[in-house]
Amino acid sequence: MNTIKVGIIGCGSITRFRHAPEYAENPYVDEIVFYDRHVERSKALAEEFGGRFVVSVEELWNDPEITAISDCSSNENHHLNTSEALRNGKHVLCEKPLAVSVDKAEQILEAQQKSGKKLMVDHNQRFTKAHQKAKELIASKELGEVLTFKTSFGHQGPEHWGVNKSNSTWFFKKERSHSGVAGDLGVHKIDLIHYLLDDEITDVHSFTGALDKVDENGKPIEVCDNVVCALKTQKGRLGTASFSWTYYGSEDNTTTIYCEKGILKIYHDPENQLIVETKDGEVIQYQLEPIQTNDNQTKTGVIDAFIDAIIQDKEPVVTGKDAVSSLKVLEKILQ
Ligand SMILES: NC(=O)c1ccc[n+]([C@@H]2O[C@H](COP(=O)([O-])OP(=O)(O)OC[C@H]3O[C@@H](n4cnc5c(N)ncnc54)[C@H](O)[C@@H]3O)[C@@H](O)[C@H]2O)c1
Repeated sequence: MNTIKVGIIGCGSITRFRHAPEYAENPYVDEIVFYDRHVERSKALAEEFGGRFVVSVEELWNDPEITAISDCSSNENHHLNTSEALRNGKHVLCEKPLAVSVDKAEQILEAQQKSGKKLMVDHNQRFTKAHQKAKELIASKELGEVLTFKTSFGHQGPEHWGVNKSNSTWFFKKERSHSGVAGDLGVHKIDLIHYLLDDEITDVHSFTGALDKVDENGKPIEVCDNVVCALKTQKGRLGTASFSWTYYGSEDNTTTIYCEKGILKIYHDPENQLIVETKDGEVIQYQLEPIQTNDNQTKTGVIDAFIDAIIQDKEPVVTGKDAVSSLKVLEKILQ
């Protein structure tokens, strides 16, 4: 069996809860090499998940045995790390948002084309069972065409999630996060709508605000903590979306798709993750699997899909091009 060695850049929460455990479980991965500019973080994860740590990024670039990289650094560094990894001949799984601007994302795509290596982006909402079943039902047109949609993603905020659990988190800094909740949670739902509807959002009307979060000095944060928007797709579907870091109760990760002959309700009910209501009054409940939340980390399947794309030499499930089309919508939301 061909096995591969993987390097991870950035040893914060997403590495700890998703990348490291999922690589550790993947039978094709024989070593994980951790790197963080805070060496105690890479050391701790190497101890927790097995593998080793390095103290400079060059050690990842210069090791010919490391063929794949997860870029789990903060947003402002993705275009630097991911492009450099590709230039050094590594396959890359980059965290979302792919970059802090469409221009910078296109630089990554250029590096990918020159390298011929795989680039996948962690838009993990595509992988959940309820979203996959919804995609299948929409594609079958059992409920006719999609007319409208409504989606929401919100939780209590990244100061409860990131490795730095305080108001000085990079998620709140303009020069590091750039897009606030829009790039943190919103971009997941933009990608999801593109995927479910096989369509692309082309027109956006939005309101953004820093309504409640404050930085370490007690000042309102420089990026948005809330977004509400109205959206129109290329195929003429209309929708609304809300993204929030101020849902101070349980998370909201719901999507509703309204079709000609019925409605798909996704993650509205914790027991029945997908509910189909038809125009003639029939209700079909699907018990699939709860979606991952910050407090309930289950396997996303993203790592397996990335490794599979490398081993089978096939196109990754989420491409750089997919990520750029979501970033274009994100830029319109923030304009
Ligand atoms: N796919 C998802 O569902 C999901 C969820 C959360 C976060 N993310 C994304 O993952 C990325 C990381 O988020 P997180 O929650 O792990 O943040 P975090 O703050 O918990 O961890 C980030 C880590 O990266 C390190 N780092 C940053 N730049 C670096 C560099 N150039 N070189 C070495 N180390 C560097 C930091 O020191 C820190 O330890 C972000 O882009 C975020 O948007 C994705």
